[in-house]
Amino acid sequence: MADLGGPLDIKAPVIWVLGGPGSGKGTQCAKIVEKYGYVHISSGDLLREEVAKASVLGQQLSEIMRKGELVPLETVLQLLKNTIKNKSTSAKGFLIDGYPRTVDQGEKFTSLVCPVKAILFFDLSDDLMAARLLERGKSSGRADDNEETIRKRLKTFRNESMPVVDKYRDMVHTISSTDPVDVVFEKVAAFMDKLQ
Ligand code: AP5
Repeated sequence: MADLGGPLDIKAPVIWVLGGPGSGKGTQCAKIVEKYGYVHISSGDLLREEVAKASVLGQQLSEIMRKGELVPLETVLQLLKNTIKNKSTSAKGFLIDGYPRTVDQGEKFTSLVCPVKAILFFDLSDDLMAARLLERGKSSGRADDNEETIRKRLKTFRNESMPVVDKYRDMVHTISSTDPVDVVFEKVAAFMDKLQ
């Protein structure tokens, strides 16, 4: 693993936002930003920005994401760390959306980036996640919002990312994402209010 440097001195609270593909992580993060002024950093968005650069790295990432697999830990951790560092002076708090996706990613984050205050986990059935992503796929333009890739993303989530929720269960706050967006956000806001 390349040298990522020492941990950052982050005073603001850092929250990992976890959940399967299409469970509503991005939707709820946008609402937290609006109400609480946190900085939202999505690992998927950072990776898509790299893909858009059409570099050699971007092409490699694009191929992995199209298959619904996980990109190498080092790549995503470096992108996250740089982004957190750049925003660390002004942030009221950080929402790290879509990371960690493996237990190893979680351990590397806490040792090489900063400690984590809490974990939000959005819980939704595979059928509903798939249905929401297929609906979004009609207009999202995302290369991974198609039936075949969605199936693989769900499998990757169950096999590789659910162990993160088990490992950190004492810090995890689970919220069901089945209800409409605003109803889910009421539960998110209750969690955020307690955290302040
Ligand atoms: P990423 O971009 O993180 O995608 P994802 O986790 O698969 O899920 P999404 O971001 O697509 O969904 P979401 O949970 O944010 O749901 P949303 O709010 O959009 O990752 C993409 C890929 O990048 C990965 O497959 C992997 O290859 C790679 N990657 C990313 N992070 C990585 C990492 N840490 N390590 C390695 N590789 C990594 O909602 C979905 C839809 O549902 C929307 O249309 C929304 O309007 C709708 N919706 C939301 N909430 C509700 C509701 N309550 N009721 C009805 N509809 C709703």
